[in-house]
Amino acid sequence: MSFSIEGLQVRYGAVTAVHDVSLRIAPGEVVALIGANGAGKSSILKAVMALTPHTARKVAIDGRALERADTRERLLAGISLSPEGRHVFPQLTVRENIDLGYLGKDGGERASRREAMYQRFPRLREREAQAAGSLSGGEQQMLAIARAVMAGPRLLMLDEPTLGLAPIVVRELAAAIRHFAHGGIAVLLAEQNAEMALSTADRGYVLQGGRVVTEAPAQALRASEEVRAAFMGM
Ligand SMILES: Nc1ncnc2c1ncn2[C@@H]1O[C@H](COP(=O)(O)OP(=O)(O)O)[C@@H](O)[C@H]1O
Ligand SMILES: [Mg+2]
Repeated sequence: MSFSIEGLQVRYGAVTAVHDVSLRIAPGEVVALIGANGAGKSSILKAVMALTPHTARKVAIDGRALERADTRERLLAGISLSPEGRHVFPQLTVRENIDLGYLGKDGGERASRREAMYQRFPRLREREAQAAGSLSGGEQQMLAIARAVMAGPRLLMLDEPTLGLAPIVVRELAAAIRHFAHGGIAVLLAEQNAEMALSTADRGYVLQGGRVVTEAPAQALRASEEVRAAFMGM
Protein backbone atom coordinates (compact mmCIF):
# COMPACT_ATOMS: atom_id res chain seq x y z
CA MET A 1 0.00 0.00 0.00
CA SER A 2 1.71 3.21 -0.97
CA PHE A 3 -0.42 5.72 0.87
CA SER A 4 -2.78 5.54 3.83
CA ILE A 5 -4.40 7.96 6.19
CA GLU A 6 -6.49 6.92 9.19
CA GLY A 7 -8.81 8.85 11.48
CA LEU A 8 -8.38 12.21 9.80
CA GLN A 9 -10.19 15.15 11.40
CA VAL A 10 -10.18 18.74 10.16
CA ARG A 11 -11.75 21.51 12.21
CA TYR A 12 -12.21 25.18 11.45
CA GLY A 13 -12.89 26.77 14.83
CA ALA A 14 -16.05 25.16 16.18
CA VAL A 15 -16.87 23.51 12.84
CA THR A 16 -15.65 19.98 12.11
CA ALA A 17 -15.31 19.75 8.32
CA VAL A 18 -13.81 16.23 8.19
CA HIS A 19 -14.81 13.47 10.61
CA ASP A 20 -12.69 10.36 11.09
CA VAL A 21 -11.84 9.81 7.41
CA SER A 22 -9.58 6.92 6.39
CA LEU A 23 -8.28 6.41 2.85
CA ARG A 24 -5.78 4.10 1.20
CA ILE A 25 -4.36 4.23 -2.31
CA ALA A 26 -2.08 1.70 -3.97
CA PRO A 27 0.68 2.53 -6.43
CA GLY A 28 -0.78 2.88 -9.91
CA GLU A 29 -4.31 3.22 -8.59
CA VAL A 30 -6.58 6.17 -9.37
CA VAL A 31 -8.95 6.84 -6.48
CA ALA A 32 -11.83 9.30 -6.80
CA LEU A 33 -13.04 11.37 -3.88
CA ILE A 34 -16.49 12.57 -4.85
CA GLY A 35 -18.90 14.76 -2.99
CA ALA A 36 -20.95 17.93 -3.30
CA ASN A 37 -19.54 21.39 -2.77
CA GLY A 38 -18.65 21.70 0.94
CA ALA A 39 -18.40 17.93 1.54
CA GLY A 40 -14.79 18.29 2.70
CA LYS A 41 -12.76 17.17 -0.33
CA SER A 42 -10.35 20.10 -0.37
CA SER A 43 -9.97 19.94 3.40
CA ILE A 44 -8.82 16.33 3.11
CA LEU A 45 -6.31 17.07 0.36
CA LYS A 46 -4.94 20.11 2.18
CA ALA A 47 -4.63 18.10 5.40
CA VAL A 48 -2.73 15.31 3.60
CA MET A 49 -0.35 18.01 2.35
CA ALA A 50 -0.22 19.54 5.89
CA LEU A 51 -1.49 22.84 4.51
CA THR A 52 -4.28 23.06 7.08
CA PRO A 53 -4.40 22.10 10.79
CA HIS A 54 -5.65 18.54 11.29
CA THR A 55 -5.27 15.45 13.41
CA ALA A 56 -4.83 11.88 12.20
CA ARG A 57 -3.99 8.57 13.84
CA LYS A 58 -1.86 7.67 10.88
CA VAL A 59 -0.43 9.27 7.74
CA ALA A 60 1.99 7.01 5.89
CA ILE A 61 3.58 6.67 2.50
CA ASP A 62 5.51 3.53 1.59
CA GLY A 63 5.47 2.55 5.27
CA ARG A 64 6.95 5.84 6.38
CA ALA A 65 5.07 7.66 9.17
CA LEU A 66 4.34 11.30 8.37
CA GLU A 67 1.94 12.41 11.14
CA ARG A 68 4.47 14.94 12.38
CA ALA A 69 5.87 15.95 9.00
CA ASP A 70 5.31 19.47 7.69
CA THR A 71 4.43 20.34 4.07
CA ARG A 72 8.04 20.40 2.86
CA GLU A 73 8.78 17.03 4.45
CA ARG A 74 5.63 15.52 2.94
CA LEU A 75 6.61 16.87 -0.48
CA LEU A 76 10.05 15.34 -0.13
CA ALA A 77 8.46 12.06 0.99
CA GLY A 78 6.54 11.97 -2.30
CA ILE A 79 3.19 13.70 -1.77
CA SER A 80 2.20 16.39 -4.25
CA LEU A 81 -0.94 18.51 -4.73
CA SER A 82 -2.39 20.34 -7.70
CA PRO A 83 -4.68 22.71 -5.79
CA GLU A 84 -8.24 23.74 -6.49
CA GLY A 85 -8.20 26.85 -8.68
CA ARG A 86 -4.81 25.91 -10.22
CA HIS A 87 -2.77 28.75 -8.66
CA VAL A 88 -0.16 28.97 -11.37
CA PHE A 89 2.08 32.04 -11.16
CA PRO A 90 0.56 34.27 -13.87
CA GLN A 91 3.61 36.51 -14.46
CA LEU A 92 6.06 33.62 -14.75
CA THR A 93 6.43 31.70 -17.98
CA VAL A 94 5.03 28.24 -18.53
CA ARG A 95 8.53 26.80 -18.32
CA GLU A 96 9.31 28.67 -15.09
CA ASN A 97 6.08 27.40 -13.53
CA ILE A 98 6.93 23.81 -14.53
CA ASP A 99 10.46 24.07 -13.19
CA LEU A 100 9.20 25.36 -9.83
CA GLY A 101 7.70 21.93 -9.20
CA TYR A 102 11.08 20.23 -9.27
CA LEU A 103 12.56 19.93 -5.78
CA GLY A 104 16.07 18.78 -6.60
CA LYS A 105 19.20 20.49 -7.87
CA ASP A 106 20.04 18.27 -10.84
CA GLY A 107 19.57 20.36 -13.99
CA GLY A 108 19.65 17.30 -16.26
CA GLU A 109 16.99 15.51 -14.26
CA ARG A 110 14.85 18.66 -14.23
CA ALA A 111 15.14 18.96 -18.02
CA SER A 112 14.21 15.32 -18.61
CA ARG A 113 11.16 15.58 -16.36
CA ARG A 114 10.14 18.82 -18.12
CA GLU A 115 10.51 17.05 -21.47
CA ALA A 116 8.20 14.27 -20.24
CA MET A 117 5.61 16.93 -19.29
CA TYR A 118 5.90 18.52 -22.74
CA GLN A 119 5.36 15.14 -24.36
CA ARG A 120 2.27 14.60 -22.22
CA PHE A 121 0.96 18.13 -22.77
CA PRO A 122 2.28 19.36 -26.16
CA ARG A 123 0.40 22.64 -25.81
CA LEU A 124 2.64 23.54 -22.87
CA ARG A 125 5.73 23.13 -25.05
CA GLU A 126 4.22 25.39 -27.72
CA ARG A 127 3.61 28.00 -25.04
CA GLU A 128 6.70 27.49 -22.90
CA ALA A 129 7.92 31.10 -23.14
CA GLN A 130 4.47 32.64 -22.61
CA ALA A 131 3.30 34.06 -19.29
CA ALA A 132 1.14 31.45 -17.55
CA GLY A 133 -1.57 34.07 -17.05
CA SER A 134 -2.10 34.20 -20.82
CA LEU A 135 -3.09 30.50 -21.02
CA SER A 136 -6.63 29.19 -21.31
CA GLY A 137 -8.22 27.56 -18.25
CA GLY A 138 -7.52 24.09 -19.59
CA GLU A 139 -3.89 24.91 -20.33
CA GLN A 140 -3.46 26.40 -16.85
CA GLN A 141 -4.85 23.16 -15.43
CA MET A 142 -2.35 21.13 -17.48
CA LEU A 143 0.38 23.41 -16.15
CA ALA A 144 -0.73 22.98 -12.54
CA ILE A 145 -0.71 19.20 -12.96
CA ALA A 146 2.67 19.24 -14.73
CA ARG A 147 4.13 21.31 -11.89
CA ALA A 148 2.81 18.82 -9.33
CA VAL A 149 4.23 15.87 -11.29
CA MET A 150 7.65 17.55 -11.60
CA ALA A 151 8.16 16.82 -7.89
CA GLY A 152 8.25 13.10 -8.75
CA PRO A 153 5.36 12.16 -6.45
CA ARG A 154 4.39 8.69 -5.16
CA LEU A 155 0.97 10.21 -4.37
CA LEU A 156 -0.43 12.82 -6.74
CA MET A 157 -3.50 14.68 -5.46
CA LEU A 158 -5.64 16.66 -7.91
CA ASP A 159 -8.29 19.04 -6.55
CA GLU A 160 -11.15 19.69 -9.03
CA PRO A 161 -8.94 19.51 -12.13
CA THR A 162 -11.88 19.64 -14.56
CA LEU A 163 -13.93 22.44 -13.01
CA GLY A 164 -15.25 24.72 -15.75
CA LEU A 165 -13.39 22.99 -18.60
CA ALA A 166 -14.73 21.88 -21.99
CA PRO A 167 -15.43 18.14 -22.50
CA ILE A 168 -12.55 17.72 -24.94
CA VAL A 169 -10.07 19.13 -22.41
CA VAL A 170 -11.61 17.00 -19.66
CA ARG A 171 -10.93 13.89 -21.78
CA GLU A 172 -7.35 14.98 -22.33
CA LEU A 173 -6.83 15.45 -18.60
CA ALA A 174 -8.41 12.08 -17.84
CA ALA A 175 -6.00 10.42 -20.28
CA ALA A 176 -3.05 12.20 -18.65
CA ILE A 177 -4.19 11.06 -15.19
CA ARG A 178 -4.42 7.43 -16.38
CA HIS A 179 -0.97 7.79 -17.93
CA PHE A 180 0.60 9.01 -14.67
CA ALA A 181 -1.04 6.17 -12.74
CA HIS A 182 0.19 3.69 -15.34
CA GLY A 183 3.70 4.87 -14.49
CA GLY A 184 3.12 3.73 -10.89
CA ILE A 185 1.92 6.92 -9.21
CA ALA A 186 -1.00 6.67 -6.76
CA VAL A 187 -3.58 9.31 -7.74
CA LEU A 188 -6.23 10.87 -5.51
CA LEU A 189 -8.75 12.75 -7.64
CA ALA A 190 -11.18 15.07 -5.83
CA GLU A 191 -14.09 16.02 -8.05
CA GLN A 192 -17.62 17.38 -7.96
CA ASN A 193 -17.80 15.98 -11.50
CA ALA A 194 -18.59 12.43 -10.40
CA GLU A 195 -19.04 11.16 -13.95
CA MET A 196 -15.55 12.22 -14.96
CA ALA A 197 -13.98 11.06 -11.71
CA LEU A 198 -15.63 7.63 -11.72
CA SER A 199 -14.94 7.01 -15.39
CA THR A 200 -11.26 7.78 -14.77
CA ALA A 201 -10.80 6.09 -11.39
CA ASP A 202 -10.41 2.47 -10.32
CA ARG A 203 -12.09 2.99 -6.98
CA GLY A 204 -13.98 5.76 -5.26
CA TYR A 205 -14.95 7.19 -1.90
CA VAL A 206 -18.18 9.12 -1.52
CA LEU A 207 -17.99 11.96 0.95
CA GLN A 208 -21.02 13.56 2.60
CA GLY A 209 -20.82 16.16 5.33
CA GLY A 210 -17.17 15.37 5.97
CA ARG A 211 -17.72 11.62 6.33
CA VAL A 212 -17.00 8.74 3.97
CA VAL A 213 -20.39 7.15 3.38
CA THR A 214 -19.41 4.61 0.69
CA GLU A 215 -16.27 3.09 -0.72
CA ALA A 216 -16.49 0.86 -3.81
CA PRO A 217 -15.01 0.11 -7.22
CA ALA A 218 -15.62 3.08 -9.52
CA GLN A 219 -17.78 1.00 -11.87
CA ALA A 220 -20.08 0.03 -9.00
CA LEU A 221 -20.42 3.64 -7.86
CA ARG A 222 -21.16 4.73 -11.42
CA ALA A 223 -23.93 2.16 -11.61
CA SER A 224 -25.37 3.02 -8.20
CA GLU A 225 -28.80 4.67 -8.27
CA GLU A 226 -27.98 6.62 -5.13
CA VAL A 227 -24.75 8.02 -6.53
CA ARG A 228 -26.41 8.85 -9.84
CA ALA A 229 -29.25 10.63 -8.07
CA ALA A 230 -26.96 12.53 -5.67
CA PHE A 231 -24.11 13.52 -7.98
CA MET A 232 -25.04 13.05 -11.60
CA GLY A 233 -28.48 14.62 -11.64
CA MET A 234 -30.08 11.39 -12.92
N1 LIG B 1 -10.70 28.04 5.84
C1 LIG B 1 -11.92 27.67 6.24
N2 LIG B 1 -12.48 28.23 7.34
C2 LIG B 1 -13.72 27.84 7.76
N3 LIG B 1 -14.45 26.88 7.17
C3 LIG B 1 -13.94 26.31 6.08
C4 LIG B 1 -12.66 26.66 5.55
N4 LIG B 1 -12.41 25.91 4.46
C5 LIG B 1 -13.48 25.12 4.31
N5 LIG B 1 -14.40 25.36 5.27
C6 LIG B 1 -15.69 24.65 5.44
O1 LIG B 1 -15.40 23.27 5.55
C7 LIG B 1 -16.37 22.52 4.83
C8 LIG B 1 -15.67 21.66 3.78
O2 LIG B 1 -15.10 22.53 2.79
P1 LIG B 1 -14.16 21.99 1.63
O3 LIG B 1 -13.15 21.10 2.22
O4 LIG B 1 -13.67 23.17 0.87
O5 LIG B 1 -15.18 21.12 0.76
P2 LIG B 1 -15.18 20.73 -0.79
O6 LIG B 1 -13.78 20.82 -1.28
O7 LIG B 1 -15.72 19.33 -0.81
O8 LIG B 1 -16.08 21.69 -1.48
C9 LIG B 1 -17.36 23.51 4.26
O9 LIG B 1 -18.45 23.60 5.15
C10 LIG B 1 -16.58 24.80 4.23
O10 LIG B 1 -17.43 25.89 4.33
MG1 LIG C 1 -12.99 21.84 -2.87
